Amino acid sequence: MPAPLTPAAIEALRARTPGAYSTTHFNHAGASLPSTGTLEAIHAHLMREATMGPMEAGVAARTQTESVRELAAQMFNAQPAEIALTTGNSQGWGTAFAALGAWSPGDRILVGRHEWGGNLAVMRLTAQRAGASIETIPSDDSGAVDPAALTAMLDERVRLIALTWLPANGGLINPAAAIGQVARRHSIPYFLDAAQAVGQLPVDVVELGCDVLTGPVRKALRGPRGTGLLYVRSSFVERLTPAFADTFSAPLDTQGEPILRTDAARLELSEGSMALRCGVANALQEALDIGLENIRARIDDVAQTLRAQLMELSGVTVLDQGRERSGLVSFNVAGYESHAVQRALAEQGISIGSNGVAYTPLDTNARGLSQIARASVSYLTTDAEISRLLDAVRGLIR
Ligand SMILES: Cc1ncc(COP(=O)(O)O)c(C=O)c1O
Repeated sequence: MPAPLTPAAIEALRARTPGAYSTTHFNHAGASLPSTGTLEAIHAHLMREATMGPMEAGVAARTQTESVRELAAQMFNAQPAEIALTTGNSQGWGTAFAALGAWSPGDRILVGRHEWGGNLAVMRLTAQRAGASIETIPSDDSGAVDPAALTAMLDERVRLIALTWLPANGGLINPAAAIGQVARRHSIPYFLDAAQAVGQLPVDVVELGCDVLTGPVRKALRGPRGTGLLYVRSSFVERLTPAFADTFSAPLDTQGEPILRTDAARLELSEGSMALRCGVANALQEALDIGLENIRARIDDVAQTLRAQLMELSGVTVLDQGRERSGLVSFNVAGYESHAVQRALAEQGISIGSNGVAYTPLDTNARGLSQIARASVSYLTTDAEISRLLDAVRGLIR
C-alpha cells in the first residue's frame, strides 16, 4: 500500500511535470499534464525507432509495450488477456458496441442520463437502422442514475445497459457497481464508460460487474493523447465479433480461415504507436506507485476546496449534482457564456473546459442548461492555483 500523498510528495510530482510550471491547468478532465518520465519513455522509443528501424525497435521494446496489459489489469483487478489497447475512449466503446452484432426491431438499450454524446451517437445510428429503442434510466433526486428505477424497466427485450460512470459535465459519481449488480442479476450486457474514472478512482471490474469498460489514458492517468484502454470480461469476449479484423485480431490459418483471438485483443489492431505505448506503460506505473486510493483522496480534497470557494462567490452557480463527487467542478458565471469564461481565463494563462449540450445531451437538456464551465482538478493541483482561478473568476464578476 503506497504512502499517502504528503505536500512534499505532491511538490516532487509537480517538479517532474513540465506543465505544472508553464500553465495553470484546470482541464485535467480534457487531458492532463504528462510527467517527465512519461515524456522520456516516449522519446526513448522514438529514438530507438530512428536508430534501429521502427519494426526492429518494436521487437526490442515488446516487454515494455506489452506490460501495458499487465499494468492495466493490475489497476482494474482484471486479467491481462481482458485488456485491449485503443486510441481513446470512443474507439474502444464504439468497437465493442459494433461487435455486439445485429440489432432487431423492438430491442431495447437502457442508458443513464449522463451518457457521453459520442456513445449515444453510435447507439442511435444503429438503433435507427434496426428499429431498436434507446431509453433513459431515471435519476434519483440527487441526479444519480437510480438502480431501482432501472430494475423496474427491465424485460426480455433489453439487450444492453450503458452507463457513464463520471459524467463529463460535472462532479457527479454514478453508482456504477449498483447498476452492475442489476445487470449481473438479469444477465444483461453492461458497458461502462469510465473515461473520467480511470486514474481518478480505484477501478475494480469484479465489483463493478461490467462486461466492457473503457477509458482514455490522456485524462486522469496523465498519459499521451491518442491512447486508451478497453476491458472486456473474459466470459464476454466470445459474445463480441469485431466489425473488421486484421492479421493480429484474426490471423488466417493454413486453410485461409480467420481465427479470431480468444482474448480482448480480438478488438485490437496490430498497428499502433509503440512510442505512445511506452508512455502509457510509464503513466500506468506512476499511477499505481502513487496509489489510486491516495489519488482519489487528494482529488476529492482539492475539488471540495475549489467547489466550496466557488460557491461563496456571488454571481457564480456551482452546478454539480450527486452525493458523491468527482474532481470535475461545473459552474456558470452570471452574464457570461461558458466559452467566454473559458476564453477570459485562457488570456490569463488558466485553462478550464467549456461543455455544450452535445457532450451530455440527455442530462444537459433535462436540467435546462445549454452550457457549463468546467474546472477539473488533479492530485497536482495546489491551493495557489485555486487562488489564481478564483481571482480570475472574481475579476469577471466585478
Ligand atoms: C465521459 C466521457 N466519455 C467519453 C469521452 C470521449 O473520449 P475520447 O475523446 O477519448 O474518445 C469523454 C471525453 O471527454 C468523456 O468525458
